[in-house]
Amino acid sequence: MASNTAQLFVIFGATGDLSQRMLLPSMYGLQCDGLLPDNMQILGSGRTEMDDEEFREFVRTALKEFVKDDELTDANVKALTDRIHYQAADVGDATSMKSFADKINAMRRGDVVYHLSTAPRFYEPITKALADNDLSGAGTRVMLEKPIGFSLETAQEINTAVAKAFEEDRIYRVDHYLGKEGVQNLLALRFGNALFEPLWNARYIEQVQITIAETVGVEGRGDYYDGSGAMRDMLQNHLLQLLCLTAMEPPAHFDPTSVRNEKIKVLSSLRPINEHHVAIETARGQYTAGAMNGEAVPGYIEDLGKDSDTETFVAVRAQVDNWRWRGVPFYLRTGKRMADRATTIYIQFKEVPHSIFGPASKTKPNALVIRLQPEEKIELNLMSKTPGLDRHGLKFSEVSLDFDMQEKFKSLRRRPAYERLYLDAIEGNGTLFVRRDETEMAWEWVDTIIASWQEAGLKCTNYAAGTWGPTTSTNLIARNGHEWYDR
Ligand code: BG6
Repeated sequence: MASNTAQLFVIFGATGDLSQRMLLPSMYGLQCDGLLPDNMQILGSGRTEMDDEEFREFVRTALKEFVKDDELTDANVKALTDRIHYQAADVGDATSMKSFADKINAMRRGDVVYHLSTAPRFYEPITKALADNDLSGAGTRVMLEKPIGFSLETAQEINTAVAKAFEEDRIYRVDHYLGKEGVQNLLALRFGNALFEPLWNARYIEQVQITIAETVGVEGRGDYYDGSGAMRDMLQNHLLQLLCLTAMEPPAHFDPTSVRNEKIKVLSSLRPINEHHVAIETARGQYTAGAMNGEAVPGYIEDLGKDSDTETFVAVRAQVDNWRWRGVPFYLRTGKRMADRATTIYIQFKEVPHSIFGPASKTKPNALVIRLQPEEKIELNLMSKTPGLDRHGLKFSEVSLDFDMQEKFKSLRRRPAYERLYLDAIEGNGTLFVRRDETEMAWEWVDTIIASWQEAGLKCTNYAAGTWGPTTSTNLIARNGHEWYDR
């Protein structure tokens, strides 16, 4: 075990929704596989008053609900809950935070990870209280949930406040997409194979599409979501991270500095979208009533209970102005209540330069489709001859070299993103976390688009729930001679 392995893991916001759905089940998964350090203790904190036993019961209930039955065993649940403790903390109250600090001091044996899974407005008071109580020095690290702010300015405020307590290399900003198996596989595909690299540039690639389509609506998070919208909630972070990993140069090493430096170069190459171009380079949509799986569902306004122009769908044609990508459109889109749940990176290669078979023999460009979720698949679409005598010209069919990760590795458990992120934080590896300059540069680009929307008065266009988004999105891509890959 490395000397900086955490011996105490503190979760602020331990009674929240994310904790129940993702964080506690991920700790459980690590426990089952014997990956939690032997003596590591877990301290949960929230506003609700509870003692250790009541919180352990809360944990058991969450595990029952969010872990598959066949993965739950009494022995593992006991082994996990034996490590778990709880103390309520009111972050705005110095006395409460002092007694919380006393608890940490009493439990501390070595390195500590603090995971701030609270609303971002608490990041400053929590990190300040930790610093005031001498709990943020060497041997401690802090994980920050998204959203880091609401804009460049608010992100800077948060980052500056947290930097007063923790140095940058001990701040782990979470983008849970970076912990997903499919996203890791994108890196493996790009940098573990020599085949793609020579083709991975503007000379051979015609267009790239990155889609995160969700079928869920705003699910009781309306208050947060309405102040945020798809641009801030998904594009600023998850979509831009996927763009970076797809477009970046090969890092020299798989370590935090090398990987983040390459991502920053991509972000700094993004062409700003001003008010003159925003109506043709972006699309904003909002879902109206429609049908999902044959069942009627209400529109966003009904879900929210008030009028709003917040976008639940966004599409952008991003341009990466560097040698590798100049001229290749990166179409990014994400939306709620879309036709299907799918996170897909679609890379379309250029047409053959000249058809030797004549105009009657139609070919389609090759494409590499990386499906990140719900399935993890890689497909390479190629042209094949359709069997026949071809007396009137050769006929082509599209065939797919198709690799299904779930099928291929079916004996291996699929791990939720937080298992990897938690293990990395416990072991002090920040590669899959986001550095300050990345998040701020992403905000700067996104802020320009949002300001351009306002200056240009660009309103949302409606799309019915259960469809692939508004017509403005179809028009955006069609204007460039392309169409969305909706399979
Ligand atoms: C979160 C967003 O960051 O990601 C949610 O706030 C969104 O609105 C979620 O639903 C999607 O994550 P996943 O892992 O389900 O694709």
